[in-house]
Amino acid sequence: MYGNTSLTEEEAKRLNLTEEDPIKLAEFEDRITRGEKIEPGDWMPKEYRKQLLRMIEQHAHSEIVGALPEGTWITRAPNFRRKLALIAKVQDEIGHGQLLYSAAETLGKTREQMLEDLLNGKSKYSNVFNYPALTWADVAVIGFLVDGAAIVNQVINSKGSYGPYCRALERICYEESFHLKQGHDNVVYLATGTKHQRAILQDAINRWYRPLLHFFGPPDRNSQHSEKLMKWKVKLASNDDMRNQFLDQYVPKIWELDLTFPDPNLKKNDDGIWEFSDPDWDEFKRVINGGGPCNAERLEVRKYAEEAGRWVRNALMSKNEKYVMPMA
Ligand code: COA
Repeated sequence: MYGNTSLTEEEAKRLNLTEEDPIKLAEFEDRITRGEKIEPGDWMPKEYRKQLLRMIEQHAHSEIVGALPEGTWITRAPNFRRKLALIAKVQDEIGHGQLLYSAAETLGKTREQMLEDLLNGKSKYSNVFNYPALTWADVAVIGFLVDGAAIVNQVINSKGSYGPYCRALERICYEESFHLKQGHDNVVYLATGTKHQRAILQDAINRWYRPLLHFFGPPDRNSQHSEKLMKWKVKLASNDDMRNQFLDQYVPKIWELDLTFPDPNLKKNDDGIWEFSDPDWDEFKRVINGGGPCNAERLEVRKYAEEAGRWVRNALMSKNEKYVMPMA
């Protein structure tokens, strides 16, 4: 055993914990087992801090990059009511980024460093936002299925062990549930509309199907971080379990509108597990490593926003003063 922890020496080595004080590590493990929240000033293993920061930072980036595909439709929304709802939603997503950057900052990395790592390609963000929103039906599908997938993931993560992340996610989930209603209303409207409206909706579903399967991460057998994250209750369901929950909740809702997914093998087995064709994990790897259809464009827009907004940030803060007190 490693000190008085529940770990074997081999596990401690694999989880990168051999440098840690075994007494403090055992106390930390006990707190996690008791379901206590870990707060920013508390002792935590370096690897826990590193993993959380990686995950929350990627999540924050996903929110601000995720606003872009829908944002391009604000000026082209089909009517004023849809435009107002979309403006509010896009604004919410940027606010989610704000909350998550604040939560990530409590772990010791500044927002400026995080944004720099997004722009220089060091940090990842969600695969789904590297695909284009070609028609208005894409806005409907993003609002219903992408936000639906995000809710499955975020409700689970909000029960995790790190206080600031959980509190940010609770608020985010309330707002996301409005986004979902907006997406659902939009999907139902198009599905019950003209032949053309149904056709663009079906086309959008076809294009988003595989990225949605990728959204929950690689299959459990290939997930590098799940073991640690689940041990420390940062993640409370595995990638495959979350993917299954999503299919269970959303596939029937699409089928009941007499729409389809482009996969003849998609079905629920008697044991409750959904079966689907291989969603091309090479495409997933390509997209998360910068080679998706819109990666370059997304980062260009973010670079432009950084440069164009610099004068506002400079005007708001004194040059020698750090402007952030973590809010989470
Ligand atoms: N998009 C981009 N990258 C992804 C991804 C996705 N949908 N799913 C997994 N990856 C990346 C991981 O970040 C990791 O890369 P890294 O080592 O360079 O950081 C790699 O693929 C291996 O995946 P895995 O070991 O399974 O990562 P994980 O245990 O962190 O699980 C998530 C992946 C997405 C389930 C998890 O990070 C998570 O819940 N994140 C917070 C929520 C979030 O970011 N949602 C997206 C926007 S709403």
